[in-house]
Amino acid sequence: MNWGFIGFGRIARKFLESLNAVEGEVPYAFASRSNAAALQNEFPKVKMYDSYESLLADPEVDIVYISTTHNFHCQNTIDALQAGKHVLCEKPMGISSNEIVKMTEVARESGKFLMEAMWMRFLPAYRQAIDVVKSGKIGEVKYMTASFGFRSEEKLTQDGRLLNPDLAGGALYDVGVYPLTIVSDLFGWEPSDFKAHAIKSGTGVDETIQVQLDFGDNRMAQVLGSIALHTNKEACIYGDKGYVRIPMFWKAESFEIIKGDEVETFSAPMISTGYAHEIVEVRDCILKGKTESELFTLNDSLMSARLVERILSTIFK
Ligand SMILES: NC(=O)c1ccc[n+]([C@@H]2O[C@H](COP(=O)([O-])OP(=O)(O)OC[C@H]3O[C@@H](n4cnc5c(N)ncnc54)[C@H](OP(=O)(O)O)[C@@H]3O)[C@@H](O)[C@H]2O)c1
Repeated sequence: MNWGFIGFGRIARKFLESLNAVEGEVPYAFASRSNAAALQNEFPKVKMYDSYESLLADPEVDIVYISTTHNFHCQNTIDALQAGKHVLCEKPMGISSNEIVKMTEVARESGKFLMEAMWMRFLPAYRQAIDVVKSGKIGEVKYMTASFGFRSEEKLTQDGRLLNPDLAGGALYDVGVYPLTIVSDLFGWEPSDFKAHAIKSGTGVDETIQVQLDFGDNRMAQVLGSIALHTNKEACIYGDKGYVRIPMFWKAESFEIIKGDEVETFSAPMISTGYAHEIVEVRDCILKGKTESELFTLNDSLMSARLVERILSTIFK
């Protein structure tokens, strides 16, 4: 397929590397409102547009990868679907459940494929670790922790997107959705109760966020996300016969099963920069005529957005 990129910032470069690693998938056109001329010099073989509308009007573009700031995802996705393109949209796909409902409606009307780019769910090591847990190898799962925090002085500058409320910055949208998603894989998206606390930035967004979730039946989870602190960046899933530890779980390449003093280590490297796995899923779904993936459905996007919304409403009440 011919891919068109809407927005071309940091993540688009890494995604491009993975796209180049998947046979038959072509980086055909990029649209950047801020940087089209420089990108044309850097990528002379790629068709370059300085507006998103002109890329969407190009009949050769089959599918659009959206990696603009969070506040633009909904409109960019709707515009692309209405232009007859399939869409892979970066996380979080929308910044409210209403946005996801609208995007889903337009996707269904258009008959085109739509998926949130929750690439973690497609990684071989991540999938194997979840399968091991579901097989009962560590017994009944009672508790999980997942933490994803980093600090980048460059990204934290006032004009960057991370701390900017107008660009839907903040830790929960940016990194917190990954720990919530791994929790959802085992306990679902609907805790019976939760408590959330945040350290807020001077700009008024959640800079570090901690959520304790209770799923009933003696199942609990603890989630930490931060755009201001380096955290331990791992997920641990505790059962009554042992636990699974996934280092760097959102970009997992290995995991451990730990029972007492015994540690079994499993390795499953990702292809290229890791996005190749979600790209293959998107390609295969579209080839089969599917309009969504069974591995990360539009309902997953909706449930994720609802949970994020519930958590943010307790922090910014
Ligand atoms: N899957 C992953 O591993 C991963 C990792 C990092 C980020 N992400 C997600 O990818 C998306 C983009 O993140 P990024 O780090 O690539 O962002 P970024 O480099 O800061 O910006 C991406 C693009 O957004 C547009 N943009 C940025 N600031 C803007 C502003 N002030 N006003 C209008 N447009 C602006 C620009 O589009 P133009 O090129 O058109 O000017 C820019 O190229 C986010 O949804 C983020 O959560 C995903």
